[in-house]
Amino acid sequence: MSAENGNIVLSISGVNKTFGGLQALSDINLQIEEGKAHAIIGPNGAGKSTLLNTCIGRIRPDSGTINFLGHDLTGGNVKPHDINQLGISRVFQTPEIFPELSILHNVMTPAFARKEGTFSFNPLNALRDQKGIEHEAMDLLADLNMADVSRHHAGNLSRGNKRRLELAMCLIQHPRLLLLDEPTAGMARHDTNRTIELLKKIKASGMTKVIIEHDMHVVFSLADRISVLAQGAIIAEGHPDEIKGHPKVREAYLGSAEI
Ligand SMILES: Nc1ncnc2c1ncn2[C@@H]1O[C@H](COP(=O)(O)OP(=O)(O)OP(=O)(O)O)[C@@H](O)[C@H]1O
Ligand SMILES: [Mg+2]
Repeated sequence: MSAENGNIVLSISGVNKTFGGLQALSDINLQIEEGKAHAIIGPNGAGKSTLLNTCIGRIRPDSGTINFLGHDLTGGNVKPHDINQLGISRVFQTPEIFPELSILHNVMTPAFARKEGTFSFNPLNALRDQKGIEHEAMDLLADLNMADVSRHHAGNLSRGNKRRLELAMCLIQHPRLLLLDEPTAGMARHDTNRTIELLKKIKASGMTKVIIEHDMHVVFSLADRISVLAQGAIIAEGHPDEIKGHPKVREAYLGSAEI
């Protein structure tokens, strides 16, 4: 719960999820405050991606509730596409792009989908909007240092660059809540730094973010608040400075990552 009592955008209450005999999520309670960057960290297999997937309707929790700005997203009540239309965008751990389209068209497509509420958009409106959307897409690609390759096929990009592309595809939708699952994984350090700068810029614009990340440089550069997940349970939550020295966090990370 937020000590500052800001607006809560996403509220996860008592969420449990088992896969066969494995308790992947165990009584998760998490409040995401408006305009904040909330990091979720934890060792491999801790349940981080599972948690994110319950928030976008991809995984149905066994129990508990997920509420986004008054909308109940729990248990398949809302379809993933509708969740996107409510204002949630996500960058997945495995990038999901349109490999046959150009990089520029990949960035533009979600903007049309958002405007029309469906991918089968009205061609007249699309024509009118196209120039503005193209402009914005090129600006985003410039921020990501990808403007000069905007006409190239997206399918040929490296994994790290696909991730940056997917981030641009999210940002053009102007989401209320951006969910990022290891957005800098597979990126060279200079691309990671550029991505951090872009994420800082969008943070200044007030966008709320949940970011799963193993790279502690990214986490401590961006996060206002950190929750630590280990074996499906939140073992610590707080300000980055509190988390850094937390004994339980050090214990959970022993042998798997530096903190
Ligand atoms: N669809 C599934 N079916 C069965 N088990 C699953 C499924 N998805 C995840 N798991 C298991 O649930 C646990 C949590 O997985 P999850 O992918 O959420 O971890 P993570 O914290 O994202 O890990 P990483 O840091 O490696 O991405 C793991 O033990 C994983 O094997
Ligand atoms: Mg994961």
